[in-house]
Amino acid sequence: MSPAQAPAPYSLVQVASGAWSVRSLAEGETFHPVVGPAAEAEALYVRQMRLAERAAAVADEFVVWDVGLGAAANVLAVVRALAGTRARLRVESFDHTADPLRFARSEFERLGYFGGMEPFVDALLEDRDVRFTQGACEVRWRFHQGDFPSWLRSPATDVPPPEAILFDAFSPARNPAMWTLEVFQRLRACVGARPATLATYSRSTLLRVTLLRAGFFVGAGHATGEKEETTVAASDASMAGRLLDAAWLERASRSTSAEPLHEPVYRQRPLSAESRAALASHPQFARSH
Ligand SMILES: C[S@@+](CC[C@H](N)C(=O)[O-])C[C@H]1O[C@@H](n2cnc3c(N)ncnc32)[C@H](O)[C@@H]1O
Repeated sequence: MSPAQAPAPYSLVQVASGAWSVRSLAEGETFHPVVGPAAEAEALYVRQMRLAERAAAVADEFVVWDVGLGAAANVLAVVRALAGTRARLRVESFDHTADPLRFARSEFERLGYFGGMEPFVDALLEDRDVRFTQGACEVRWRFHQGDFPSWLRSPATDVPPPEAILFDAFSPARNPAMWTLEVFQRLRACVGARPATLATYSRSTLLRVTLLRAGFFVGAGHATGEKEETTVAASDASMAGRLLDAAWLERASRSTSAEPLHEPVYRQRPLSAESRAALASHPQFARSH
């Protein structure tokens, strides 16, 4: 088959809210499947991690890691939300392909969330590094194209550690390489001692155990309209919202799908003895006894 005849790997779908969203035909997954790109990004990342307030409170750059750039709905929602804030936003985006962003750019009118920022997206696609001002906010946005788990094994030294992580890979069943314990341990190591948060759409026990074992504090995240609950993790217990408690730990200990992925293969297993011991000694649960 010639390239001209190859099927487009992405399509647009109209989700329940009426908004349009990008769908990956290869993965069989819609990027923002129920409330649509803008509403999901605002609820899950912007409001839940209080990004505008936090960015306004730092004199220096406020650093966001955007894991799974995809069609850039999450980044553009963050920039829109910070436009009324005197802040310096630094976004480091990661994805192994630029194709969904190119596709979304070609459909920006129906997607509706680009908000006049198409020239900045074009510059990012062209140069991988763009600086612009949106309202009162100064933005620097870079795109690192490559396999994210591999990148984390030797992170580039010119990428500053994150204060907020938008974690938006495909689901663990489809995309297990992005959800391994090693990935989250390495992310936690990148954060170091600074106050930082990570939000993601999944509320699965497997993901939450993985975050706890990686050394994050973990809370039950807000509903997004799509999910009745999401997950927020933080390096500091005071930033993780409503912390998972002893009752959650008890349910996790009985779950048949709780053990982190130790390799990039999706498997559902109950907690191992090692994970049980790690959770029992995690400061989050030691605090609630
Ligand atoms: C759900 S989509 C992200 C949607 C995006 N955040 C947005 O706002 O439009 C998941 C993204 O993860 C990327 N991805 C999957 N596996 C990856 C890997 N191993 N390394 C880097 N990116 C990966 C996919 O290419 C895809 O664009």
